Amino acid sequence: MDDLVSLCKRRGFIFQSNEIYGGLQGLYDYGPLGVELKNNLKQAWWKSIIYDRDDVEGLDASILTGREVLKHSGHEDTFSDPLVDCRSCKNRFRSDQSADGKCPACGSDDLTEPRPFNLMFKTTVGPVDDGSNYAYLRPETAQQIFTNFKNVLDSTNKSIPFGVAQIGKAFRNEVTPGKFIFRVREFEQMELEFFVEPGQDEEWHKYWVESRYNWWIEQGIDKDRIQKLEVDKSDLSHYSKATVDIMYDFPHGLEELEGIANRTDFDLGSHTKNQEEYSISSSVMKNTKSTTKLGIQNLETKKWFIPYVIEPSAGVDRGVLALLNEAYREENVGENNTRIVLGLKPHLSPIKAAVIPLKRNNEELVNAAKEIKNDLQKLGLGRVILENSGNIGKSYRRHDEIGTPICITVDFETLENKTITIRDRDTMEQKRLDPQELNKFYEKIFD
Ligand code: GAP
Repeated sequence: MDDLVSLCKRRGFIFQSNEIYGGLQGLYDYGPLGVELKNNLKQAWWKSIIYDRDDVEGLDASILTGREVLKHSGHEDTFSDPLVDCRSCKNRFRSDQSADGKCPACGSDDLTEPRPFNLMFKTTVGPVDDGSNYAYLRPETAQQIFTNFKNVLDSTNKSIPFGVAQIGKAFRNEVTPGKFIFRVREFEQMELEFFVEPGQDEEWHKYWVESRYNWWIEQGIDKDRIQKLEVDKSDLSHYSKATVDIMYDFPHGLEELEGIANRTDFDLGSHTKNQEEYSISSSVMKNTKSTTKLGIQNLETKKWFIPYVIEPSAGVDRGVLALLNEAYREENVGENNTRIVLGLKPHLSPIKAAVIPLKRNNEELVNAAKEIKNDLQKLGLGRVILENSGNIGKSYRRHDEIGTPICITVDFETLENKTITIRDRDTMEQKRLDPQELNKFYEKIFD
């Protein structure tokens, strides 16, 4: 983990938030390369969940969420961690962090009884703070998908099974944030709520577990470091009938990367108007102030029913950490010489190609390099940069370390016959290419 944290800071992937004032615990900022990597990961997810299918629509709902929503979703009552105080050293921790009933910091057994600590951040809405007009920063992106269920259904031509997907920030006032960006207080989720007919939920649950597991492997996660774990009934969230977690072997241990839950009709049932009409049999809350029927009518029987929902929910930040961990390697390249390489899949690399003029500030070389950069940029495969450092060796090393799949060198031969040299990050092989071949070669890398 230390190597990753150091690389992230040194090369501009991730910084401690509020650092110049000593930092704020559990918050991180993504730097110039981090934001590219994160965006690439989100784009890959969006593509596979929405563009590559025909049964999912996107959404970008508000982060501030009204109290009624989070009351009926069950979060006001149940979204808490058991908090314990150590009377000796004043350490605060989650009760599950101590297996032997002793303080994990000082070993004292003079501890308070665990008490529930709600993880939601509350804030005032509007200019008057009289204690009643508050909302929450959403603890998951899912709830506003449920509240928009009818809006999406009415404005598209979807029929079930179909899904609504969203990527966005979520906030949790974690008792013990830590392990770099693994457990933070502000993070991003990539969530899909996939609505299905009751009775078909278990089948779809299996489908999404397999699909999501395979997707992570496609992003570059090694099969040996990822596994599926059926969550024990006693550990299920209040809304879940069954959950399978995708666990990844993070530098600090095997932990959850994504959860795929069968949320049944709990959420739509909790937020809907007039549940009696649906004759539903789940244990959802009743008597909401909701104005909207969140159900579907069977056109043959005319009966209304509330769909079940399967929810694959992945953490963007945990994804970034897992992918960085997978990609990081140190190679011995000669005596006392180590090459650090970030072997990211090209579609995730923050910089897709670096175009390097052999001589710094040589106008002709720089202009030729700019032209190549602009041409590649137009292909729309991601960020291409002009690296006008003049030191080819150092540029190669820097780009190995940040995961740039290819470097393109522009030299005096380029000015004569337009050929360029391409250097591959992983093999370090170099070959000369004709400009006509370049675009095809480049596009092939991002296949
Ligand atoms: N809507 C369901 C839901 O929120 P969750 O298991 O609590 O389920 C889903 O969260 C994913 O969000 C987790 O698998 C994890 O990747 C990410 N996540 C949750 N809490 C996090 C935190 N404090 N910091 C970073 N990521 C977190």
